[in-house]
Amino acid sequence: MTVPGDDLRVAVGAMMAAHWREGGYTVPNGQAYPWQWLWDSCFHALVWAELGDDERAVAELRTTLAVQDELGFVAHMTYHDDPGAQAGFWGRPGTSSITQPPVYGHATAELVRRGVAVPDDVVGRAVEGVRFLLEHRSRTREGLVTVVHPWETGCDDSPRWDGWCPGGYERARFREVKGELLATVERAEGGAPLANPGFAVAPAGFNALVAWNALELAGLTGDDGLRASAAELTEALDGRWAADLGTWTDDGPHPSGRVRTADALLPALLITRDREAAFAALGDPAGLGGPFGPAGTDRREPAYDPTAYWRGPVWPQVTYLLWRAASSAGHPVADELAEGLRAGARASGLAEYWHPDEGTGFGAVPQSWAGLAILV
Ligand code: GLC
Repeated sequence: MTVPGDDLRVAVGAMMAAHWREGGYTVPNGQAYPWQWLWDSCFHALVWAELGDDERAVAELRTTLAVQDELGFVAHMTYHDDPGAQAGFWGRPGTSSITQPPVYGHATAELVRRGVAVPDDVVGRAVEGVRFLLEHRSRTREGLVTVVHPWETGCDDSPRWDGWCPGGYERARFREVKGELLATVERAEGGAPLANPGFAVAPAGFNALVAWNALELAGLTGDDGLRASAAELTEALDGRWAADLGTWTDDGPHPSGRVRTADALLPALLITRDREAAFAALGDPAGLGGPFGPAGTDRREPAYDPTAYWRGPVWPQVTYLLWRAASSAGHPVADELAEGLRAGARASGLAEYWHPDEGTGFGAVPQSWAGLAILV
């Protein structure tokens, strides 16, 4: 299925309506992803706001933040109506036991900018969620925030994590590794994940999202503490630019954290020293640039595979974030990213992710976050 030109908004509206659940959230896809995911819901809130449904936009943020614990930790999956699902895997019923990028900061701020009435308790929870990462999550010596698991980045099978897959990446084997990595997570008394000596990685993209979401919320609340924390992370990220590669690199024990991927350019959301070079990299057709948005992995990387999950295809939510970076910086690559996102969403029939040169859809189709194409 492809979506013809003028019908994109109509197709997105129909998909979102079909994916909406009475509990007050949108599933990414009814078959492949029948529960609530944290960063997906933040993107869904933006799509609902663009469609003019303020109520659902707010509900989506409220339900994803509802599982926040006393430290501010927000689990990345909520199993509404089915608390026993995967409870054995996570070691607890109802939710997962790790988080995802705190895009609720941006979603909250953007809703408010659009004139949506976001209740104070939702804003408060968003602030506490970002604070949890800033104050309770373990840091590296350089001061960057660690993730406890690859899934926390949202970029599940990125070649950035290949160092943790003995014998080289293979999808099924890496899934087992990801299961095992949960065992070494160190937790607060209430279960909030604080550190993982078995995966002590501070990804460039994740840190950029923590800092940017802190700034988005600081813009709403005037919180100077959040601003100062974002400035510290920005400075630490400046130190992780690799000029020879044209990318930011992860702070962590394995060289796979230097692979050139689209999400590693998310520090361009901040006023980082090298963001002009990052925008240039995004537009380079030999590397990431392309007619359907930025390839998830640079075409020159040995790991590049334009059809494989997180190894080369375009991801609409990453493209949207990079578009925000370029448009807020006034960089012309913003138009290319916007056109790519729309073209890919259409050609793929609103897929979860798509081929960077052909637009062929992969993964779940349709997937709610492809609806971001109507925002750019
Ligand atoms: C996949 C993605 C993750 C997303 C989830 C639901 O696991 O890698 O980022 O949140 O699907 O769409």
